[in-house]
This record gives sequence, structure tokens and C-alpha cells, in this order.
Amino acid sequence: MSRYKILIVNGPNLGHLGERQPEIYGSETMADIPALLETLLGEHVGEVELDYFHANGEGRIIDRLEAARAEGVQGVVLNAGAYTHTSLAIADCLAWIGIPTVEVHLSNVWARPEAIRHQSFMAAQAVGVIAGFGLMSYALAVQALWARLRAA
Ligand code: DQA
Repeated sequence: MSRYKILIVNGPNLGHLGERQPEIYGSETMADIPALLETLLGEHVGEVELDYFHANGEGRIIDRLEAARAEGVQGVVLNAGAYTHTSLAIADCLAWIGIPTVEVHLSNVWARPEAIRHQSFMAAQAVGVIAGFGLMSYALAVQALWARLRAA
């Protein structure tokens, strides 16, 4: 049985990764994430149970995060998409469920021209933020959470 449970949550408009503005978000798809993470974990792959969730709606994301608490998930990798910049509701959820969360973005949101992308409701509730590395942002986030769990 896996020792650690990590949940990867993707928010709105991330279901069509690969087709969506590939010049910003890259040509890889969400289906490429499991293989990338398994390669990262290598011989330790059995140590970490990875679960994946995608929803376009804010409420479904909150429901999944609440369920994660009940399931004993020990780490969350969250790309809340545009909700990052708008959702006090998701931030409030992160604040009470108490699961260490890494905020991730495919793009470097601070290098983008729209000022609203420079603001994050998630960041204050996260243990860290990783942005700008495409799918590798997710792998770096899993690595960081896994290292934290192992050190605990
Ligand atoms: C994003 C950045 C957000 O500003 C945007 O709304 C997204 C994707 C990223 O991964 O780069 O949907 O979170």
C-alpha cells in the first residue's frame, strides 16, 4: 500500500490542454502528466498514490478538496486556472481543510501582460507556488510535497 496520497487538481479550461493556446500552455496534454510523474518517482512510484481531478466549476473543485480531507490525502497540487485570480471560495476551502497545497501554473503568470494574473487568492494558503515550467511545474510540485512528507 502507498504511504502517501497526493491529489492533482486542475481547474477550468485545463481539460483541453494541448489544443488551448499552445504558444502559452504548451502542446502536451493532461494525459501526459501521469507518465511524467511516474518517471519522476522512479523506483519509489509505489510510495505515492497519485489521484487526478479536473473540473471547470468552482463548486466541484471545492467538493473534491473537502472529500480529499475526508480521504486523508496528504498533499494537493492545485492549478485552479483562472479561479486562482478570483476565487475566495477555493482559498477559504484550502484554509480550513489543512492539506499542504502547492499552487502550480503552466505559464509564468507574473510574466504575462494581464495584471489580474499577477494576483493569486491561492498563494496565501499554499506551502509554495511553482509557475512557468509547463507540465514540469506539476512534477516539481509533486517532488516538493513528497520530500516534505518523507521528512515529516
Ligand atoms: C494558468 C494561468 C491562469 O492565469 C489561467 O487562467 C489558466 C492557466 C496556468 O496554468 O498557466 O487557466 O493557471
